Amino acid sequence: MERIIIKGGNRLKGTIEVSGAKNAVLPILGASLLCGGESIIYNVPRLDDVEVMVELLTYLGARIHREDHHLRINTTNVEPREIGENLMRRMRASNLVLGPLLGRFGAVVISQPGGCNIGSRPMDLHLRSMKALGAAIDEKSGYIRARAARLEGADIHLDVPSVGATENILMAASMARGFTILRNAAREPEIVDLQNYLNKMGARISGAGTDVIRIEGVQELKPCNHRVIPDRVEAGTHLVAAAITGGNVTVRNVIPEHVEPVLAKLREAGADFEVAGDAVRINSGPLRAVDVKTQPYPGFPTDMQPQIMALLSLGEGTSTITENIFENRFKHVSELRRLGADIRIEGKTAIIRGRESLSGASVEASDLRAGAALVLAGLAADNTTVVEQAQHIDRGYERLEEKYRILGADIVRVRA
Ligand code: UD1
Repeated sequence: MERIIIKGGNRLKGTIEVSGAKNAVLPILGASLLCGGESIIYNVPRLDDVEVMVELLTYLGARIHREDHHLRINTTNVEPREIGENLMRRMRASNLVLGPLLGRFGAVVISQPGGCNIGSRPMDLHLRSMKALGAAIDEKSGYIRARAARLEGADIHLDVPSVGATENILMAASMARGFTILRNAAREPEIVDLQNYLNKMGARISGAGTDVIRIEGVQELKPCNHRVIPDRVEAGTHLVAAAITGGNVTVRNVIPEHVEPVLAKLREAGADFEVAGDAVRINSGPLRAVDVKTQPYPGFPTDMQPQIMALLSLGEGTSTITENIFENRFKHVSELRRLGADIRIEGKTAIIRGRESLSGASVEASDLRAGAALVLAGLAADNTTVVEQAQHIDRGYERLEEKYRILGADIVRVRA
């Protein structure tokens, strides 16, 4: 068990570098299973979720060698072995091996995936889509079995634009016979990165980044090298860290367009930005209340909802945040209240009355982004904040406390 201890009140100042995107690297590692041979993936962040994916691929027979921030992956000896609970339950994104294993081997057996404790997160859209591509699916005793002699292209319309289902479809349909048209696809930048990677492997995909994606199946794919895009959620978290401490921070290695949904709300809340190339500089002043609704990209990301709630706890006036993606993503509310935040929940909306200050306390991270939000609140709170269960934060941020220490925060990590 890990604990982060913060003495709040220091304004963050300086330059901070964003790592590669967790949510891009996970499907890309999954996609590397689609063929044999050696690929190199660059800009791979050192995160617990990435380590879980590496373990999963290794279990399937891949040989993976990490050198700093690249992974050299050899998938020649991969076999579609049954994947049990021990690997599948550690992370929701382990479901991203479904499409590639089905595409390459026509057979997958996986235990139902686990993941952050933020809602029910079913697999129905993934499974229905694989069925549409011709797979026979059997769900029994906590296991999913999928089988197909050869996948066939299909017209698929998603009920909701699920990121993971869109990615599994791209990967499976790349190796199907004929054309697939996917409508109501998720439009997240990580899906564009996956399309780019798959196309380098020889796939024929177009339309990622819009809600209609066309995939022409090919007979085989070949390994390739790829550099992962920067993490827009990490970038957004740093911008909020600067804003909540009244700081002046330059966030580098950002694709500004990807963080625009977050910049728009921070601007409305009173922050000022200068964008130059891959850098965003934030000059923050007094904060005022705003209303936020989480939506699929390019709407405001659910993965930034806890962090912006921490910020609005200190904004002048009353804000509302409506969580439209996950039904159980308000676990940070009780912890923010322990720091003095005035937050009330009505259904899927949180009503936040901004306070002049927060006051340090002992709080517990229930999941990855909730943990980040508590660190941000602690940076701004008076006195000392202790964030327990801080290991959740390592699933999605590389050395978060070290990065903030360089910007002037008084923050340390200890083993509990
Ligand atoms: C991905 C991200 C996660 C982010 C989420 C929403 C990765 C590795 N994770 O998760 O960080 O919070 O997108 O932006 O990229 N749903 C169904 N049935 C399904 C699949 C999903 O009902 O079969 C629902 C979910 O319960 C949820 C919504 O669709 O309400 C969106 O989920 P989805 O986009 O699939 O999220 P993930 O891909 O799991």
